[in-house]
Amino acid sequence: MNNATISHKRLRIAVLVSGSGSNLQVLIDESKLGKLSVEIIGVISNREDAYAITRAQNASIQTVILSHTSSGKRMTMTTFESHARQIIQDWQVDLIVLAGFMRILSADFINNLGIPMINLHPSLLPVYKGLDTHHRVIKTGDKLHGCSIHYVTPQLDSGNILTQAILQTHQNDTPETLQKRVQKLEHKLLPWTINLIAAELIDPTGKTLQSLKLPWRLYEAECIDD
Ligand code: GRF
Repeated sequence: MNNATISHKRLRIAVLVSGSGSNLQVLIDESKLGKLSVEIIGVISNREDAYAITRAQNASIQTVILSHTSSGKRMTMTTFESHARQIIQDWQVDLIVLAGFMRILSADFINNLGIPMINLHPSLLPVYKGLDTHHRVIKTGDKLHGCSIHYVTPQLDSGNILTQAILQTHQNDTPETLQKRVQKLEHKLLPWTINLIAAELIDPTGKTLQSLKLPWRLYEAECIDD
């Protein structure tokens, strides 16, 4: 499906990050080009050294750093969440996107925020929840791999799966080559999924609309750059 052909309302989103922010960059670029129906209201990072912050600042997007390293002492999860909750509520967003956000959120935060949250995960869920997904795929010898976007619930990487992008592994793949290949898929899957949500074709909680069965899937061949 061509992102540019979908007409729908612009979602107000907050993006939570911890690292490089290449997925955030795709959202920034595509929304500037009018290919993505979002307004990125703000970015929250739990790490002060995340390059994602620079990407957001370069795009004049407000950023908040809730880091446990900047003050030299660890910010508890309770403190992190109470700041994050206040900020997100002030921003009045429709959707929260976890794009490489590496802290595990509490059940209380997830259940009581009142704003749907989606997460990008580098495996074909429900297999390989958690970390080191590319290593685990190689070790098991899986023929298929990819990434998933799911609704966030208190159980790690276990909420309803909304969309997936799939590749076939090669015999000479390493965790590093898989990481690169999967990341290319992520850069297609995330804007595609957000546009589907904005178009109300899928509900971010994973309740299927229009009798369509989730997850919706993309394949590697569809994700090659135009
Ligand atoms: C992605 O690979 C995502 O699957 C994982 O963290 C990575 C984030 O990459 N959860 P980036 O920060 O968007 O470059």
